[in-house]
Amino acid sequence: MTTYDLAIIHGDGIGPEVNREAVKALNAAASRFGFGLQTTEYPLGAQAYLETGTLIDPGTMDSLRAHNAIMFGAMGDPRVTPGILERGLILRMRRELRQQVNLRPVRLYPGVPTPIKDLDPGRCDFVVVRENTEGMYVGGGSTVHAGTRNAVALQESINTAQAISDVVDYAFRLARARRGKLTLCHKKNVLVHAGELWQSIVNEHAAQYDDVEVDYVHADAMCQHMPMNPERFDVIVTDNLFGDIISDLGATIQGGLGVAASANLNLDGTAPSMFEPVHGSAPDIAGKGWANPAAAVLSAALCLASLGEGKAALALENAAASVLGELPALAGAGMGATTEQIGDRIAERITDETGISSQIEETSIMTAMAAI
Ligand code: IPM
Ligand code: MN
Repeated sequence: MTTYDLAIIHGDGIGPEVNREAVKALNAAASRFGFGLQTTEYPLGAQAYLETGTLIDPGTMDSLRAHNAIMFGAMGDPRVTPGILERGLILRMRRELRQQVNLRPVRLYPGVPTPIKDLDPGRCDFVVVRENTEGMYVGGGSTVHAGTRNAVALQESINTAQAISDVVDYAFRLARARRGKLTLCHKKNVLVHAGELWQSIVNEHAAQYDDVEVDYVHADAMCQHMPMNPERFDVIVTDNLFGDIISDLGATIQGGLGVAASANLNLDGTAPSMFEPVHGSAPDIAGKGWANPAAAVLSAALCLASLGEGKAALALENAAASVLGELPALAGAGMGATTEQIGDRIAERITDETGISSQIEETSIMTAMAAI
């Protein structure tokens, strides 16, 4: 029996509540599909930082490296200056663990309410493949004459051919395993240096993947096309900042942050990948049972898919999607059930042996991901 060794980082706010339900779903999948799970909790986040003054020590980063994958809840706390935990922990782990791809599926499941009028679920099923270690997120730059009228702020965007090529190659492979369409999202009419490099690398790959249809959309126009014509997209590949922005729009289209899952993928096996809901720590609702664990469970499904457990991943997606489709609201007091009750319902549906809905299975990201 294969046993997967997972690091669990619950984090802050609603992080622990939703991540516990994700681990519950993983355990349900393990017993149904016959694999083992071993978990180690790492108390990283605001509380540990406030107590010790340290975000993460090198030894802990090394211990994380030894796991097969990391399940991450959320980070952020009103007692800590905004940005400290985000840059010092989340972005640092993405970079140091070489998680070059941030994969964010945007799929509208049947029965899930969306703010987009008359959007048929069949029309909305695409994936954002976001570069995850570079661009504006590197934090390069400087400020001089701060606090005066002569202040100058330089914020650099780093774009290396190697990182772009790795991400673009993954996006092409994913497109080939899905509906065979790739769209580059950038702003190359204005950001000429970075835009030119991204486009030229996409063109190089297009020559090798001649069965994949290639398209280009500016980032601003993307914000119009995604809600209006989501069927136009299959795999969208983009840089770190554009990917951050358009994936929140994607989350809105698919019903909100209670549904949006993500995978930070290490592509070369040098460190574990990390799985986290797109939503933050929502300290205002922490402890109330108002957070929807579906985004965390769907992130756990991506974890299983990346470990090659495609069937189990599909069972998690199927269970989360069917429970989501029954909820009167996707977050807050109106969900009609608590975080834990929703997690229990999902876990029960994973272990009962009823089949996977063919509607879910046909275009599932889980199958494509497990296959590449
Ligand atoms: C996300 C978040 C992070 C990001 C923050 C918390 C640093 O918004 O995962 O999308 O900007 O990448
Ligand atoms: Mn974001």
